[in-house]
Amino acid sequence: MRIRHPLTIGAGVAAVLALTTAALAEPDSGSGHPPRDSLRALAAKIGLRVGTAVIPFDLNNANYAQILGDQFSTVTPGNEMKWQVVEPTQGVLDFSGGDRLVAFAEAHRQRVRGHTVLWHNQLPTWLTSGVANGTISNDQLRDLVHQYITDEVTHFKGEIWQWDVANEFFANSFDSAPPLPDGISSGDFWVSHLGEGIIADAFRWAHAADPRALLFYNDFNIAGEDGTNAKSDAVYAWVKQQLADGVPIDGIGDEGHLDTQFGFPTQMTQDLQRYASLGLKVAITEADVRTFVRDTATQAPTNPLAAYAQAYEYSQMLKACLAVRQCISFTVWGFGDADSWIPGTFKGEGYADIYDVNLNPKPAYFNLQQDLTLAAFGAPNRTR
Ligand code: G3I
Repeated sequence: MRIRHPLTIGAGVAAVLALTTAALAEPDSGSGHPPRDSLRALAAKIGLRVGTAVIPFDLNNANYAQILGDQFSTVTPGNEMKWQVVEPTQGVLDFSGGDRLVAFAEAHRQRVRGHTVLWHNQLPTWLTSGVANGTISNDQLRDLVHQYITDEVTHFKGEIWQWDVANEFFANSFDSAPPLPDGISSGDFWVSHLGEGIIADAFRWAHAADPRALLFYNDFNIAGEDGTNAKSDAVYAWVKQQLADGVPIDGIGDEGHLDTQFGFPTQMTQDLQRYASLGLKVAITEADVRTFVRDTATQAPTNPLAAYAQAYEYSQMLKACLAVRQCISFTVWGFGDADSWIPGTFKGEGYADIYDVNLNPKPAYFNLQQDLTLAAFGAPNRTR
């Protein structure tokens, strides 16, 4: 799959093309024909892509694959492009999971969000233990990560629409005492060994390997979800400086992991717009909304009203994206509750996805569907 890039055309031609495309409808239907009321078909009318992380990596499950192909126009590997999975043995690269997903996406006319190149988590044991026991020096670590980024981004060159190049580098209000966090976490694995400049280098190396991929900085709580906006302020100041320094960053991904107990972050639209005002694309990259549940098997909310709150917060999150023309994709972090990462990480919580444990659509799904239907009547059209 090669990414097509927009041609430069005159405004008159663009208007005619836009009308023609609208009249033909279903611009992004896949090889099997996604339903006209699917999330992807509705979103395509305003040039938005709706995506999901592929969790579980269950492409052979017919029901799962049908929903994946019908409803979504982008896919993100939940784990298959992470260093731990790609290079479990030093020097032996395994891109088979990513290749399978790229092939699925091509067959279903989907785009791929590559995830994730530089992150402190899910690193190969040979790397982390080598650093810990001193057999890998910092200079060698720098060479290894340069090589890895070059190998991975080159392998998928032309296949990836957006790469999450750097992931979760900023400090959080919950892991430090006041004053509020105002920058990159000094304890991060990469920063502590190679300095903050490694982030900019990762973008430069990724850009050299695939100059046409959109390169994103991706993080959570960077659109006001922490209630203080401190992390958003820090990322905004950092990315502004990076752009001034000529670092090839194209976008900011806000993960969008919400929790009904904290309410919807009302700053989200303004924060997304603020990044966009720097000339960046923005995206919601890992949306889910968790709440307290009775048990992991059914994931029925303990408070029946939470089901409304969950659907409401999904809707608000999508609307924040819809309101910002530069918000080019809205991705959920998996779509079925049975395989969500939430119950394993947040004790007593679940019900975070838009399909239930039996892969039936939930109220949140229908909210998104309705929002996208209405968006065609006035949300700003986005391109690319
Ligand atoms: O593959 C092994 C399997 O062989 C083994 O039997 C099993 C036993 O636990 O573990 C499997 O690996 C797990 C892997 O997911 C694949 O399922 C790891 O233990 C588990 O830790 C890993 O969790 C992933 C998590 O990142 C790690 O932090 C989740 O699937 C993945 O959804 C999650 O995604 C992250 C994003 O990348 C970044 N933002 C936050 C998001 C949620 O944590």
